Amino acid sequence: MSSLTEPIHQNPSSALALEPGRLAQRISELGDWFHNLDLHGIPTAPHHFLGDFPSIKWRQIADAIPEDLTGATVLDVGCNAGFYSIEMKKRGAKHVLGIDVDDRYLSQARFAAETLGVEIELQKCSVYSADKLAGQFDYVLFMGLFYHLRYPLFALDSLIKKVAGKLVFQTMVRGSTESREWAHDYPFWNEQIFEERDFPAMYFIEKSYSNDPTNWWIPNGPAVEAMLRSAGLEIEAHPEPETWVCRPAAVLRGGRYIVDHELDGTL
Ligand SMILES: C[S@@+](CC[C@H](N)C(=O)[O-])C[C@H]1O[C@@H](n2cnc3c(N)ncnc32)[C@H](O)[C@@H]1O
Repeated sequence: MSSLTEPIHQNPSSALALEPGRLAQRISELGDWFHNLDLHGIPTAPHHFLGDFPSIKWRQIADAIPEDLTGATVLDVGCNAGFYSIEMKKRGAKHVLGIDVDDRYLSQARFAAETLGVEIELQKCSVYSADKLAGQFDYVLFMGLFYHLRYPLFALDSLIKKVAGKLVFQTMVRGSTESREWAHDYPFWNEQIFEERDFPAMYFIEKSYSNDPTNWWIPNGPAVEAMLRSAGLEIEAHPEPETWVCRPAAVLRGGRYIVDHELDGTL
């Protein structure tokens, strides 16, 4: 795990001031962008296949997160070019740490933060190692990453160790978005529940989906909610079909995290 940036002071006067032609050139030199950021009027991904992404997503989620985050700490997992990190910092968060495994995206995030004069910390770190980061965070953003993981529930169960306040969880969802009450148990011979469209399920992508071989497991909505609850989280808000805001409610069993029990075979 290496720190890629020294903190940049959040002060408009410290913003990187490049003339528009040079700014556009630097944006292009940093490779293809997934986040469409507005860097002083220049969009970084104007032809994104999802539109003005992730602004369109953020507009639906923004009200589920306090407008004033003064003093809060934030961990943005899979931060990409830092859109959400920057938004959290703009709301007054004291410390925002963005982590990602991709050097290109981290370089973009560093450049975007410098250009906008926003102080965020960036580290190259996988979600699977995030439990080794120091301390806990008031907000942990786990957005747009779950379905890219071969071991999604392991990542969720591990990341819970970092959540002091809220987990903001977003994933691609396919299939049903209707959650229903299910019985506590079913007999072995009941195969019918697995025919039900609303039964919690994840689709495994052996080859590729959306031309992206890193899409592994795509849950339906009921599976997301079932996994969040099973991880000991309480769902507090569901501002749009792919996003849930949760808080730790029963993440410990006998004083130990579920993931540690599971790895020890004591769950
Ligand atoms: C679809 S993008 C989502 C970016 C952003 N969180 C969002 O919601 O817009 C997935 C991001 O997760 C990063 N990523 C992939 N595997 C990761 C891992 N194991 N740990 C941390 N980040 C990862 C990718 O590099 C990429 O930036």
